[in-house]
Amino acid sequence: MCGIVGYVGGRPCRDLLVAGLEKLEYRGYDSAGIALLENGSIDTVRAVGNLANLRAAVGMDGDGNGGVAVAAPPATIGLAHTRWATHGRVTEENAHPHGDCDDRVQIVLNGIVENHSELRRELAADGHTFSSETDAEIVAHLIERHYDGDLTEAVRATFNDLRGHYAFAAMHADQPDTLVGARQECPLVAGLGDGESFLASAIPAFLAQTRDVLLIENGEIVTIDREGARITDAAGTPVSRDAEEVTWDEGTAEKGGYPTFMMKEIHEQPDAVAETIADRLPTTDGVDLSELELDDDLIARIRRIVIVACGTSYHAGLVGRYAIEQWARIPVEMDIASEYRYRDPVVGPDDLVIGITQSGETADTLAAMRLARERGATVLAITNIMGSQATRDSDAVLFTRAGLEIGVAATKTFTAQVAAMYLLGLWLAKARGGLGPDRIAELIAELKHVPSRIEETLESVDDRVRAIARSHASQRFFLYLGRNIGLPVCLEGALKLKEISYIPTDAYAAGEMKHGPIALLDESTPVVCVATDSPVLEKVLSNVAEVRARGADVVAVATEGSTEAAEASDQVLFVPRTDWVLQPILAILPLQLLAYYIARLNDLNVDQPRNLAKTVTVE
Ligand code: F6R
Repeated sequence: MCGIVGYVGGRPCRDLLVAGLEKLEYRGYDSAGIALLENGSIDTVRAVGNLANLRAAVGMDGDGNGGVAVAAPPATIGLAHTRWATHGRVTEENAHPHGDCDDRVQIVLNGIVENHSELRRELAADGHTFSSETDAEIVAHLIERHYDGDLTEAVRATFNDLRGHYAFAAMHADQPDTLVGARQECPLVAGLGDGESFLASAIPAFLAQTRDVLLIENGEIVTIDREGARITDAAGTPVSRDAEEVTWDEGTAEKGGYPTFMMKEIHEQPDAVAETIADRLPTTDGVDLSELELDDDLIARIRRIVIVACGTSYHAGLVGRYAIEQWARIPVEMDIASEYRYRDPVVGPDDLVIGITQSGETADTLAAMRLARERGATVLAITNIMGSQATRDSDAVLFTRAGLEIGVAATKTFTAQVAAMYLLGLWLAKARGGLGPDRIAELIAELKHVPSRIEETLESVDDRVRAIARSHASQRFFLYLGRNIGLPVCLEGALKLKEISYIPTDAYAAGEMKHGPIALLDESTPVVCVATDSPVLEKVLSNVAEVRARGADVVAVATEGSTEAAEASDQVLFVPRTDWVLQPILAILPLQLLAYYIARLNDLNVDQPRNLAKTVTVE
């Protein structure tokens, strides 16, 4: 999605702002722009395409010549933006920042202003003229309309005119020491440095400059200057909030020696899972989730659990469903968040609704969680991001501790989510008496071994996965088959391959093959089958026999030592043996690697696949 960076302070800020945008590149964008204020006037430059084009346009490259150089390189206040087109085509005119009629105001905006058409009509009737097709531009004109010498008040009045979900930042040529931002549903954070302040849509944009962060909440207006930040609400009432220190290592935002962020993050999975389970398994038979502060009464009376999520997070939820039902014997329903929110669901006070979202900012998941909460359900968020919206739209939060994930394709956040679901399953099993203490102790011991087994798997399958990738990299279609707890692994493996290699995939419950999809198979079709140990292994293997009989080329992911699986398939990728319910957290690893190597063999940008961005905050 779009990215916002703003700076006010004592340093020339053009390069700082562009460096901030570079840190947000992982979010995906199609154009970029920058506005700098100096000597009472604002210079704005926009460019379609990547940041190299913006750098060239502002004369940052080479000898500094040849660009439409921003005339104010010493400017110490400015705004910058990366745009992901929603309203209006990908053109220079539609790139941000956007100005008012006299170019006294400049704004950058993330998200969507829903009532932009009606506001545009009103403003046009008042004589405002527009230079872009965007919903964002009307924000600059509204500020122009409301401005009476106080940018904060003009932003507040503008904010109150808008409907939708957005975050924006504004500056005015008459106020060379102030930036003002506002937030409604899209992320906005302020960074507080020594004699300087930042505004951004995500912390990495200024992490190299300061670690003191102020999280802006929905409905708030924030004014920053060299001295710091002041927050007020939509009515103008001051809000007091302390800054928090971000403890992320700056290296987290770098590739750490790997060729891509995705590969780095695949290899961070042992840590991500270890961190997620670490202090929550304090004894041999105890799971400590007291941090949830959910009362015992509620746990005793939960009638059912509903899991809402999107994409990869949904697949983690599917694994969690098996674990919770198997161990705690509480019925679990799964829903794709974008469907749930629109189908008037039957949900109420005896339901525990779990929203899984690594970013904590996915609009559909947040809306589903809010709906369930409005109807009286208790809502638990599972998220990777402190301070994200999901943490505020829930009654309890279980953090995964995967660290920042830069690659668009979720990998370490997925395994951390699965680990969190296992913790939850065991905790509920203990609280509801679904499992005896011995079985819980056995599972905890297995779970504690998972990080080292992930490491072992990544090491042991790598060469073989590369070889399989080489022999299949030019295939035009892949089918993934699995049953029971292997099915979510197939869904996730298939999603990884399609999103980073653009090869069509289908993932099916293997028992459904005979009801239609078997018609897809011919001698050239690679079929990836998850055949790890489980109560349905025999059935999976007979499905494998069915597809092999049609000539398909079967790659099986199987539990170490499973001669049946090895014999039943053309090629096998073994993962270490563990309890069958825990097997998915290992079985996904070769499939992440397979997708990765196929995409790389096809020379594709795995960190930033086309048409995709990390956080889906707009519908
Ligand atoms: C796929 C992927 C997406 C996300 C989905 C939900 O690799 O990353 O499918 O899982 O957009 O995102 P979160 O978890 O942030 O709600």
